[in-house]
Amino acid sequence: MTTTFIKSSETLEQCPTDGRPEYAFIGRSNVGKSSLINMLTNNAKLSKVSSKPGKTKLINHFLADETWYLVDLPGYGFAKQSKTEREKFGKMISRYIAQREELTLLFVLLDIRLEPQKIDLEFIQKLGEEGVPFALVFTKADKISASAQLANVERYKKNLLETWEELPQIFVTSAEKKIGGEEIRNYIKHINEQLS
Ligand code: GTP
Ligand code: MG
Repeated sequence: MTTTFIKSSETLEQCPTDGRPEYAFIGRSNVGKSSLINMLTNNAKLSKVSSKPGKTKLINHFLADETWYLVDLPGYGFAKQSKTEREKFGKMISRYIAQREELTLLFVLLDIRLEPQKIDLEFIQKLGEEGVPFALVFTKADKISASAQLANVERYKKNLLETWEELPQIFVTSAEKKIGGEEIRNYIKHINEQLS
């Protein structure tokens, strides 16, 4: 995959207007969105990564194979941000999700170590209500054992099945150990083929 950074946008109006399909990455600050994009594109320097939450502050478009976009978004739920800042990012994200017609699929990232978090469950619930297509990506799998990974994913599925009839597509990844990238790339490829 060849990928090029196209632009950073503060508003929907500034986003690219060529109509190419987009795959966006969302989740709490520090969950590993930018790291996942770098893993998927085999480019460690494509999107800026930081151990401090709140690194990505704009809507970042990366063009892949000159045909589709990867979109890195700011995280949600960063407690140390000021209320005004949190609201600003919240609005940016919710407008993008609700109104961006090019948005083909949203990858919602979840830290595999954590039990289901209210903020993520509410976010997923909202996607369901708005009819936004999404998949779940567990991140940082290298931080726990294989059996704990399995148990935590099962716990999440069980939780989702309390409100959902069907489970979304689920991926388990590690940007650190480069796990799960091929599956996500194939999934995107498959959807792109259906679009064309
Ligand atoms: P914001 O832009 O602030 O919302 O964060 P983000 O979701 O883009 O997270 P980012 O990719 O910047 O990663 C946050 C921290 O988690 C960095 O220190 C990464 O090195 C680390 N990290 C990300 N993915 C993994 C992973 O799979 N394994 C491990 N061990 N660390 C990871
Ligand atoms: Mg980021």
